Amino acid sequence: MSEQKPVMLSGVQPSGDLHIGNYFGAMRQHVELSRSGKYQTFIIVVDYHALNSVQNAEEMRRRTRELVTGYLAIGLDPTKVTLFKQSEVSAHTELAWIFDTITTMPYLMRAHAYKDAASKNAEISVGKFNYPLLMAADILLYDADVVPVGADQKQHVEYTRDTAEKFNRIFKQDVFKLPKPYILPEVAVVPGTDGQKMSKSYGNTIPLFASRDELAKCVMSIVTDSSGERPENVYAIHKLVRSEAELSPLYEQHRGNYKALKEALVLDLDRYLAPMRAKYEELQKDPGIVAEVLAAGRREACAVAEAKMEQVRKAIGVY
Ligand code: ADP
Ligand code: TRP
Repeated sequence: MSEQKPVMLSGVQPSGDLHIGNYFGAMRQHVELSRSGKYQTFIIVVDYHALNSVQNAEEMRRRTRELVTGYLAIGLDPTKVTLFKQSEVSAHTELAWIFDTITTMPYLMRAHAYKDAASKNAEISVGKFNYPLLMAADILLYDADVVPVGADQKQHVEYTRDTAEKFNRIFKQDVFKLPKPYILPEVAVVPGTDGQKMSKSYGNTIPLFASRDELAKCVMSIVTDSSGERPENVYAIHKLVRSEAELSPLYEQHRGNYKALKEALVLDLDRYLAPMRAKYEELQKDPGIVAEVLAAGRREACAVAEAKMEQVRKAIGVY
């Protein structure tokens, strides 16, 4: 029975254009693991996390639509996966509040993401500060076993485990299961066009659904240095779409000719991404599909989350 399978769960914010770092680092694993048939899968469009940065209703709606369309375009099967919006299952914010009450400020202040954000802007929102606890609620409501994410999210999964343990200890019941991160070492940190981690906040991304011309523009902007054997930043992206065995003769043949290597990368990226881009464009013609998928996801997610909340309310004495 599907209920007995281990649970795989992840979330992505509808807060920017999807890029190949999101795809290779996390979303591809979501599709592949869910297709393996070994897991019961939940994928969450974490719009209340995104509200920390997207504070415009029209943009929120558009980005949500784009993210769901993106998942379908890369091959997520909505009949096999519960794909839903965080804001439509109120248990997430309710449980996050409960976690607020058992968590100390110094503990949250040790989070890398908080330290980073606070160093740039002391006026950090309470929502950003509490971010790890809403994420813990996302994960713990569904008894997730594995959480496939990029390396930047590892600490957040550790916060989730700590929070589950603390709750179970304080309320003397095994209400929550301890999840494990699932991080593939070879794509844990996909580099951007400047060699740093690819991230929408650094302006160094290659968009997942870019046209061939846009891909060419991004690839031509990849920073190359002439110190090594080959342009490492070009190679690091190239090996995402072609095997190293195929790349070695190519890089040997064009040694020192960065332009030729970048042109080859444009062709290979385009070949790899074109089918997903075509699917994305086709799906955009059917606007009803996003609402349909989210409505089904909401029903499934609510049923699971509500059952867990009953256990939680009993454990804390508000039932
Ligand atoms: P961004 O860093 O662009 O803001 P998100 O935080 O929205 O991206 O990330 C969504 C998912 O994609 C997360 O699981 C994250 O770990 C993964 N991810 C994002 N960028 C990368 C990257 N450069 N390499 C590997 N995984 C990444
Ligand atoms: N923090 C994650 C990110 O920025 C998004 C996220 C929210 C998430 N809730 C989650 C990821 C639950 C995995 C599981 O990418």
